Amino acid sequence: MQYTTEFKILNDYFWAEMAAGLVIGKWLRRVESFELADKLLAHTQEEFEHAQFWKQRILELGMEPIQVHHIEGKPNYFIYLNSIKTIEEFLCAVHAYEKRIPWHLNLEKTMDFWSPGNDVIMTEMIRQELPHIGWVKEYLTSHYTPSFIEQTFFKASLIENQTYLEMMKWYINSDDKNLQKLGSQALLKAGTFSLSF
Ligand SMILES: [Fe+2]
Ligand SMILES: [Fe+2]
Repeated sequence: MQYTTEFKILNDYFWAEMAAGLVIGKWLRRVESFELADKLLAHTQEEFEHAQFWKQRILELGMEPIQVHHIEGKPNYFIYLNSIKTIEEFLCAVHAYEKRIPWHLNLEKTMDFWSPGNDVIMTEMIRQELPHIGWVKEYLTSHYTPSFIEQTFFKASLIENQTYLEMMKWYINSDDKNLQKLGSQALLKAGTFSLSF
């Protein structure tokens, strides 16, 4: 079956939210601090709510989600995320990923392959993602030294950036003209994304 670009992207959003909920949720059983566990619980819950949201959007378009596992683009970030042993490294890696979301969604929503009304939905989703950047940044800043954060975050941010760029190159080399355009735009604008904390 030939899937539309819109479906492929919404389907990826759905699974990305599910993956985020699962990976963040795992840390609920590893942290001692209730304050932190409570924040992780809220974050996990919101990622699953976002998954429900994208699922609904896919159903509205008359489709249903299909299981996909991307191995293209050498997913170094995800390998790194799953290899992390401490909560502070994990939070730095989450922050590196969450920071990318508004930047990428803002670019993606300007593409012309969307059904009417998608612009409003994506603007709302960007708004809902912003607190995920906020609480992690605030927590790290109030519990760890600036030099530790800088070093650990920088490592995660470089891996995330490399993974993202590889993914966009894979878009460019795909047989989907819309993804080719999206990948080219992303690479053209890549320099405007801040790698700082
Ligand atoms: Fe989300
Ligand atoms: Fe998020």
